[in-house]
Amino acid sequence: MKKSTATATAAHPASVTIDGLHKSYGSLDVLKGISLDVQPGEVVCLIGPSGSGKSTLLRCVNLLETPQRGRIQIGDVEVTDPDVDIDAVRRRVGMVFQQFNLFPNMSVLKNLTVAQRKVLGRSESAARQTALHNLERVGLADKADSAPAQLSGGQQQRVAIARALSMDPELMLFDEPTSALDPETVGDVLSIMRDLAKEGMTMLVVTHEMAFARDVADRVVFMDGGVVVEEGLARDVIGAPQHQRTQTFLSRVLNPTQVHTPES
Ligand SMILES: Nc1ncnc2c1ncn2[C@@H]1O[C@H](COP(=O)(O)OP(=O)(O)O)[C@@H](O)[C@H]1O
Ligand SMILES: [Mg+2]
Repeated sequence: MKKSTATATAAHPASVTIDGLHKSYGSLDVLKGISLDVQPGEVVCLIGPSGSGKSTLLRCVNLLETPQRGRIQIGDVEVTDPDVDIDAVRRRVGMVFQQFNLFPNMSVLKNLTVAQRKVLGRSESAARQTALHNLERVGLADKADSAPAQLSGGQQQRVAIARALSMDPELMLFDEPTSALDPETVGDVLSIMRDLAKEGMTMLVVTHEMAFARDVADRVVFMDGGVVVEEGLARDVIGAPQHQRTQTFLSRVLNPTQVHTPES
């Protein structure tokens, strides 16, 4: 992959291999045979309409959902193996959600140290050092003692990213990380994600930020109705989509203020 100037964020960025993934809820088939490979250090953006299964796919990778069929491998570990150590898998994967999910009753610093202490067994001082380093990376070292509620949405999301990074993940999953933010704070969050990409992190990002996808993603995957409709280089999928469904989706996302007539 590119990014030879890596300043080594991810000690061992992992690959992800998804093969024939099916997930249903009762009679609702949400993922209908998704296959997708992500190379170590690669950034793949998942785009597609609401309800197409993007979040479900990310949640399967992190074992928050159990697929009915298909395989997922992270590095050389098959995480869909029924005997897999789920906690061990989750330790390797950082996840950032639309809602930041910070602990409201803990300081920013405590939000970053608590899982390092409990899950990784780090000492208080080691956890603190890692936390401060990662707060520095997201430009919020001066907020260590603040409560989450004292921060803007964008700042809270940067804390959530720093918290995930403090676990030294091999893979980062982002599920619409900027969708709940005030427009003026979106850029700061995207710029941190951009840095992370440059540093060689493997990233799977669900986003509606097409400029980010075009500029930062190595590849873009367009999902609709639980299948991958189109995938390829970001500039091709966004700049010159081949499929009608991709074209329709992109024109809506890129011209959100236009009034569209419903499709027949
Ligand atoms: N826990 C659940 N139980 C039942 N249906 C669900 C559940 N999670 C998601 N779904 C359904 O699966 C479909 C895909 O959802 P989701 O993966 O969230 O799509 P996206 O992230 O692309 O908007 C939707 O129809 C949604 O209502
Ligand atoms: Mg979603």
